[in-house]
Amino acid sequence: MNTTSGFEGFSKLSKEEKLRRVCQYFTDPDQAEKEFRSFWHRDSAVQKQLDEFSENTITNFYFPYGVVPNVLINGKSYIVPMVIEESSVVAAAAKSAKFWSTRGGFKTRVLGMEKIGQVHFIWKGEKQKLYNHFAEIKKQFLVGTRHITSNMEKRGGGILSIELVDMTHHEPGYYQVKATFDTCDSMGANFINSCLEEFALILKDYVAEAEGFEPHERDLTVIMSILSNYTPHCKVECVVECPIEDLGSFDGGLSAQEFARKFALAVKVAQVDPHRATTHNKGIYNGIDAVVLATGNDFRAVEACGHTYAARDGQYRSLSRIESTDTMFRYVLEVPLALGVVGGLTRLHPMARRSLELLGHPTAAELMQVAVAIGMANNFGALKSLVTTGIQKGHMKMHLLNILNHFEATEEEKSLAIEYFKHNKVSFYAVRSFLLALREGLIPGIPTPKPVTGKVELS
Ligand code: MEV
Repeated sequence: MNTTSGFEGFSKLSKEEKLRRVCQYFTDPDQAEKEFRSFWHRDSAVQKQLDEFSENTITNFYFPYGVVPNVLINGKSYIVPMVIEESSVVAAAAKSAKFWSTRGGFKTRVLGMEKIGQVHFIWKGEKQKLYNHFAEIKKQFLVGTRHITSNMEKRGGGILSIELVDMTHHEPGYYQVKATFDTCDSMGANFINSCLEEFALILKDYVAEAEGFEPHERDLTVIMSILSNYTPHCKVECVVECPIEDLGSFDGGLSAQEFARKFALAVKVAQVDPHRATTHNKGIYNGIDAVVLATGNDFRAVEACGHTYAARDGQYRSLSRIESTDTMFRYVLEVPLALGVVGGLTRLHPMARRSLELLGHPTAAELMQVAVAIGMANNFGALKSLVTTGIQKGHMKMHLLNILNHFEATEEEKSLAIEYFKHNKVSFYAVRSFLLALREGLIPGIPTPKPVTGKVELS
C-alpha cells in the first residue's frame, strides 16, 4: 500500500475528514474510526482546546493520572500529581515518600533560576572592533527590547547579562551573543526567543550603520537566535538524610549499616559507569517527568538538559551522589530544571491547571522542588529495591494487572489472581499458567470462575 497517496493537502481537511482518511489504512476502517472517536472528550469545547494544542489531531491519547499523597518537602506536605504509563513508578514514589516522611522528609533548595539564550552569527571583520563596540550594542539591545522586558521586569525578572563570545576557533567569523535571563514563574522560552530575535535585528542594523566599520564589515549573517535548553544555573537540589541506625532493617535480612554500604556502592557504580548511570538517571526522570507532564511542562527540555548536565565533565554520570558518613546516611540529588507555572500549557490544559491547584498554586521555584523530590523518591525506591530484593518482585506485582488484562481476565479472575500472587512469584508465564489452571478448575481450593470470557489460547 502506498501510504502517502491521498494525503495531499491533508492539513487543510476537517478533523472528521482527517480521521476518515487515516482510518482507511486499517484493516477494519469503521471499527478503527469508532475507536478513535471513543477517545474524544465528551465536552466539545474541551476537545477543541485539546485539538488546538497541536496539529492534525484526530483523537486523544490517554495516560494514567495518579497521585502520591503525604510527600513531605521542607516540612510541608504535598499531594503530588504524576502522569505516567509505567506501572510501579507511582507506587515506588509513594513508598519512598512514606519512608522519608518519618525520617525528616525531603529537604530541597533552589540553587539558581538563570536561563540562557544565544544569537549565533558570522561576522568577518576585525575582532577587536566588535569588542570595542559591544558596550554600545548591549545598550541598544536593552533599549530595543524594552517593549518585551518591561512586564517581566515588573514581576522581578528580565535580562540579567549579555556577553559576546568568540567562537572563531571553531569556525571563521563565528561569534555568539550569550544572554542570561530571569523569567520568574514562566519557563520563558517565548520571552527569551523574542528578546534574542530582537537582539539579532539590532546587531545586524548596528554593523550596517555605525561609524568605524569598513564596507566588508557591514555584513553580518545571523545563523540563528534561540534559547538554550541547557540551563546549568537553573538548578535544584534534594537531600534525604538520617542517622544510619534509623534506616531500619531491610528485606533479605540486610541491616541498616549493610544497606547504607550497598546503597553507596550502587551510587558509585552509577558515577563511574555510563551504562548504569543512564538507567540510574532514567529512574530519576521516571519521577521528574511524571510531575513535569502532569503540570503541563516540557519534559523533552527537562530531559535534554539533565542528560547534558550529567555529562558536564566529559563522562555521563549519575545525577545523584552519596555524602554519608560512618553514622549518617545522606543522599543528594542535583538537577537543572527549568519549569514554569504560567505560560505554555500550564494554565491552558485543564488537568495541568488542576495539578497546579492540587499542589497549592506553587511558584516555579516551588514546583522545581516538588519535581526533584519525586525524582529522589523514585531513585531512592529503585536503589532500595535493587540492593535488597531486586527490582522484579515489586515491579511484577504492579505489572500483574497489565498481564491479566493482556489475557482478558474477568474481574473475578483478577481478584483471585491478585490474592494468589500475594504469595507467589509473578511472571508472564506464571500468570498464564494460573489462568489456564483456574479455568480448568485445577487450582485446589478455588472453584472455576464462570463464565470464562478471556482469551482461551492465552498467547
Ligand atoms: C525502571 O523504570 C527504572 C529503574 O531501572 C531505575 C534504576 O535501575 O535505578 C528501576
